[in-house]
Amino acid sequence: MAQSFETKAVHFSIDQETINRSKTTPIYQTSVFSFKTLEELESHYTGELPYLYTRNGNPNPDELGQAVALLENAEAGVASSSGLSAIMAGILAVCKHGDHIVASEDVYGGTYHFLEQQLEQIGISVTFVDFSQPERIEEAIAPVTKLLYSETITNPFLRTESIETMVAIAKKHNLTTMVDNTFATPYLLRPLDQGIDIVIHSATKYIGGHSDVTAGVVVGSKKWVSLAKEKIVNWGANVSPFEAWLACRGLKTMALRMRQQCENAEKLASFLQEHPAVEKVFYPKNVSEKGNGAIVSVQLKPEIDMSAFFSNLSWVAIVPSLAGVETTVSYPIATSHRALPEAIQQKLGITTHLVRISVGIEDFSDIASAFQQAMKLAEK
Ligand SMILES: Cc1ncc(COP(=O)(O)O)c(C=O)c1O
Repeated sequence: MAQSFETKAVHFSIDQETINRSKTTPIYQTSVFSFKTLEELESHYTGELPYLYTRNGNPNPDELGQAVALLENAEAGVASSSGLSAIMAGILAVCKHGDHIVASEDVYGGTYHFLEQQLEQIGISVTFVDFSQPERIEEAIAPVTKLLYSETITNPFLRTESIETMVAIAKKHNLTTMVDNTFATPYLLRPLDQGIDIVIHSATKYIGGHSDVTAGVVVGSKKWVSLAKEKIVNWGANVSPFEAWLACRGLKTMALRMRQQCENAEKLASFLQEHPAVEKVFYPKNVSEKGNGAIVSVQLKPEIDMSAFFSNLSWVAIVPSLAGVETTVSYPIATSHRALPEAIQQKLGITTHLVRISVGIEDFSDIASAFQQAMKLAEK
């Protein structure tokens, strides 16, 4: 039947059935999937055809969830729109109105804010304690406690909480455990192997690795992941196909990037340790045999002019995030940890002279020169 111009203009498409397999997964940039018959539509509901509507499921987010699950030795994984929505989904998979969480006080500021203020609105309470002291965790546990929450390498002090302690306490009190493994990545740590129940990632960071994606992932047992997925679908926190595709593309080079970034970070931590402008370097030890992570935090001496330091870093940009291939610096007190109550900032040591460095893949001598110059020009 001959079609008019207007009809032809919207009904063209390549014959998808006859295309041979593409080497890379195509980007399924579609909000919905189509069906030829009512029987075919029905077969979605009987489980034969996986996709109906992108908020409910799409191959690119599924690929991201499955890839991270594979690397974390998890039974299942689901991708979400951001690290924070992965935290939301993981928590709501476990907790409902009236439940209580014991969380580490040394967590990413956005996580702190979410746990303290957003969860309160839906009747989930949180007690923050110092997770380096197991007795504090135990003291905070109440009859309504359901979840212990921490980060494997904390932000910004890079403490490596004892996963073993968390798992032992959780077993004793019949609690679920959830950790944010963003800073360590599965290249360095796989907390599920150590008995943690749910692991989340801000895929915005090392999984994507190029500062061009906002995404998150929840991995764990099929049970926890399907509950988390239910939250992602129903609270509309799905990741877009293109963002998921970019995160998968980034993930393929994560091991190479991490190797180089950890090596540079190790060298930078030693270099800063010896520098007269530096009061204290925060860099973990013994995280894994592959390295200790690629973030170095540094407390500069009070006589350093912070404004001069940040403006003399040459090619090292001030970036309130981390984990790209470029070395960048962030200022926790003004950005990631701004939302923390002042008393907590002081208790943790988030001061005006604290700088968090996300170490990139550049040649180390260039990284060292940039910091050397900035510290020299910032001496009062
Ligand atoms: C450790 C950690 N977890 C979670 C998040 C939140 O991730 P997103 O910004 O992708 O929501 C961040 C963001 O900086 C982070 O540093």
